[in-house]
Amino acid sequence: MTEHHRPLFGSRIGAILAAVGSAVGLGNIWKFPYEAGQNGGSAFLLVYLACVLFLGVPVMLAEFFMGRHTRQGAVGAYRRLGIGSPWGYAGYLGVLGAFLILGYYSVVAGWTAEYLCQSASELMCGTQEFKSPERFAAEFDAFITSPVRPILWTVLVLGLSFAAISFGVKHGIELSAKIMMPMLFFLMIILCVRAMTLPGAAEGLRFFLLPDFSKFGSRTVLSAMGQAFFSLSIGMGCMVTYASYFERSTNMQATACSVAAIDTLVAFMAGLVIFPAVFSFGIAPEHGPTLVFVTLPNVFQQMPLGAVWSTAFFLLLVIAAITSLISLYEVATAYLTDEFHWGRLPAAAAVGGGILFFAVFCSLSCGVLNDFKILGLTIFDALDSLTNRVLMPLGGVLVCLFVGWRIDRRILKAELTNKGSVPFHFFRCYAFFLRYVAPIAITLILLDQLNLFR
Ligand code: PHE
Repeated sequence: MTEHHRPLFGSRIGAILAAVGSAVGLGNIWKFPYEAGQNGGSAFLLVYLACVLFLGVPVMLAEFFMGRHTRQGAVGAYRRLGIGSPWGYAGYLGVLGAFLILGYYSVVAGWTAEYLCQSASELMCGTQEFKSPERFAAEFDAFITSPVRPILWTVLVLGLSFAAISFGVKHGIELSAKIMMPMLFFLMIILCVRAMTLPGAAEGLRFFLLPDFSKFGSRTVLSAMGQAFFSLSIGMGCMVTYASYFERSTNMQATACSVAAIDTLVAFMAGLVIFPAVFSFGIAPEHGPTLVFVTLPNVFQQMPLGAVWSTAFFLLLVIAAITSLISLYEVATAYLTDEFHWGRLPAAAAVGGGILFFAVFCSLSCGVLNDFKILGLTIFDALDSLTNRVLMPLGGVLVCLFVGWRIDRRILKAELTNKGSVPFHFFRCYAFFLRYVAPIAITLILLDQLNLFR
């Protein structure tokens, strides 16, 4: 597709918000705070910041380079830049990975929508019966194992993502990010204030932030690197695809830094919401879905005006999940529009149908298909593990090696400095990181994720 025919984001802020929408997701809210609490509080935070700065930002910039330079999505970018070499195949990893993540991410996004609906109806009816912690757990279990309801919610969130994608880059992806991201920040700030003013909030802040070096070890560093990677949406072609819609004048260095800074801030704020709230009611924090769907509803019901806070929280989650879904959805859609010149609407419909197919099995694997195992894991867990543990780090290593070793440095520098109009003071340092430091560090994450260090 030539420069003239490529749809583009309409504004600098729109481009940043779209990329932030991809990065800020469920990972920031249920994964980051817990990892930080478990791995030594602010000691983890410092390592995480270093990983974002020295690993995340360089890889994101490399993805931006690939996308904007070629004006292609993941597959086309590798093919164009790696002409005559097997590198062309690396882009398929991104499309495959995005598709597989979508399979389970859309199911979880559906769960958040169900909980939003429940909280909102409690808020409107003004009724809230008191439930025991076991009852919350049992209700969550009954919901995710039921064969129909979670699938209907998945269809709904996929339908919303489909709508955003089919309205196009500017009027769909960009506009939805411009509406939803400010809402997300607003909700986050309100929830932060509420949580930190609860009696006993300090105990939670202590768990989240006090450096505890006894919990700190090499595993901490590896967890921080893995988390930074997932949280910044790198390694799956999302940032390549979004950058293919950047204007030539977009300052990509500033964009990568802004996206990383905002993503980290949101993750940090999620910790400021969750721990003070949980500790204030003397409840032990849990990991993953249980934290969000069992522990927190229990916390909310004990707060005055609980339905208000729980509606705000689940709205925040739905927004975070949908904007990330849209970016993954776009990776696969762009593949069909770029490579096969499909129209956006049929491409989005075909991708949506494909995702739904995976998502249905994923959802059923929490219930009726629970006994069907792949390498001892349910379909849901298998997709989660395969994408998080293998495909994302692998995708990241490939980006670094490809851009670091295969691309002429002058071309790389010209693109990242907008032909010299934006200074890049540490370019040599950057190139060194991309060639050596980042691939080695990410390979360590990969080996760690595959449990080779245990
Ligand atoms: N970054 C998103 C999150 O934090 C997840 C994601 C991963 C989105 C990879 C797109 C690509 O939840």
